[in-house]
Amino acid sequence: MKTINSKSQLFVIASVFAMFIVSNGRTINSNNELIRAVNLGGWLVTEGWMKPSLFDSIPNKDFLDGVGLQFKSTTIGKFLVAELGGGTIIAANRTSASGWETFRLWRINETSFHVRVFNKQFLGIESNGVSLVAVSTESETSGIFQIIRKSDDPNRVRIKAPNGLFLQAKTENLVTADSNGDGQWSANDPSVFEMSIVDRLQGEYQVTNGYGPMKAPKIMKDHWDTFIHEKDFSFIANSGLNAVRIPVGWWTAKDPTPPKPYVGGSLEALDRAFLWAKKYNLKVILDLHAAPGSQNGYEHSSSRDGFIEWGQTEETIEESVRVIEFFTARYAPNPSLYAVELINEPRAPGVSLSVLTKYYDDGYKAVRRHAPNAFVVLSNRLSGEPKELFPLASGMTAVVIDVHYYNLFSGIFNDLTVDQNIDFVKTNRSNELQDITTSNGPLTFVGEWVSEWQVQGATKEEYQRFSNAQLQVWGQASFGWAYWSLKNVNNHWSMDWMIKNGYINL
Ligand SMILES: *[C@@H]1O[C@H](CO)[C@@H](O)[C@H](O)[C@H]1NC(C)=O
Ligand SMILES: *[C@@H]1O[C@H](CO)[C@@H](O)[C@H](O)[C@H]1NC(C)=O
Ligand SMILES: *[C@@H]1O[C@H](CO)[C@@H](O)[C@H](O)[C@H]1NC(C)=O
Repeated sequence: MKTINSKSQLFVIASVFAMFIVSNGRTINSNNELIRAVNLGGWLVTEGWMKPSLFDSIPNKDFLDGVGLQFKSTTIGKFLVAELGGGTIIAANRTSASGWETFRLWRINETSFHVRVFNKQFLGIESNGVSLVAVSTESETSGIFQIIRKSDDPNRVRIKAPNGLFLQAKTENLVTADSNGDGQWSANDPSVFEMSIVDRLQGEYQVTNGYGPMKAPKIMKDHWDTFIHEKDFSFIANSGLNAVRIPVGWWTAKDPTPPKPYVGGSLEALDRAFLWAKKYNLKVILDLHAAPGSQNGYEHSSSRDGFIEWGQTEETIEESVRVIEFFTARYAPNPSLYAVELINEPRAPGVSLSVLTKYYDDGYKAVRRHAPNAFVVLSNRLSGEPKELFPLASGMTAVVIDVHYYNLFSGIFNDLTVDQNIDFVKTNRSNELQDITTSNGPLTFVGEWVSEWQVQGATKEEYQRFSNAQLQVWGQASFGWAYWSLKNVNNHWSMDWMIKNGYINL
């Protein structure tokens, strides 16, 4: 009885959704069918977790840009700390480690690094002295450091300072660069530290700078040529999907000679995607996923070191508007250009609403100069209010709000069962989506979702139920939805795999 009941309830719900879709299709989104898309993630904007092999042959690959390191003095038994988070001395007196005790690398080459602290200063040696400080705000003029690992115990390290000598923690309050660093690696040698890697970034910045200017161009070209092919577009078109969302980085607009460490060739790949989209009659949502300076500090926005620097200067905003204008002008003649997403997942509070509003205004106008009818997609801020862009959107036409709904990335999902996960989608997410899907407001787009959760060892049937629940609920969005992503070594994150193996049935 239970099964029959829930089946008939499902049928009623599905019918209501179907009516909703039809009425939206006619009224709000005239002549436009609802978007059923897949993201081409990890292609033109690298994400290492989606294709780890891309990083395999980087020399010294633990030490890529942005890696967060903590160092415990073996003699004192306490962590190195940028006192006050930066701006003054380095001490060795902290019993536990978090932000102030984390040092992030800027890679110069496989052996040499600048080191950035919590408040963004770089490590160096006090002028006329040997004490270690974090005061410089310019990487170029800050110190160059090396990290020497013990060959049979790579988490025992010595740190070579710009003066050619090694750091030593003499006392809790005195860290100096004046050791020869040539003793045994014993625990009573003040130049020996125990290192932990607490954070890694594997984005476009890391892969290109990791391989360096000689090797990166070929590695990236091979990736662009092999990760997404024409046959993927034909598969997408034959799978019941009608669109692709293509994440791009700002450097692609600078092709063929983007600023270092980025390498040329990605624009050609994007051009091919647009040709294939046209050939297979797929719509394209072009998504500026990585904006200059990084709008969220994650690797998927090509952050160098985890900081959010997009929007902190006028220049990053103006540059982003130029990038949007470049892409729109280039692809507006292609009938597949359906929507332009001005920026992906800006993160609050690092990106303020007022800065974002100004950018969205300017970006909207840049799109309109070349594509009067394309949809303009505004991504909600991570940790922002769901309706905070509504006042801005009310002055725009063909405007869409993008929300990303994952049953992940928050502790609330940790202990949920299969049914609780599905209920969360059907009640909580459904309510959230209904709340922002209004008859006179912007259209709504679930621009990222995935059939993955924290449940361990779920069966295929359970994944199918989860996928179906999401497809039904996201079907209420007035613009449509896009799965994250087409290809991924993690099967459930690969829509290609999920469709071919019957986990998702469109
Ligand atoms: C790495 O960079 C440092 C500092 O610029 C330089 O002295 C060194 O020769 C470089 N090493 C390699 C292998 O390029
Ligand atoms: C660590 O040393 C610095 C510099 O002497 C001092 O200002 C700070 O209060 C000390 N912190 C702890 C936790 O002992
Ligand atoms: C989901 O919604 C239900 C019913 O409104 C509520 O009791 C529950 O706390 C919500 N779950 C989460 C994780 O927010």
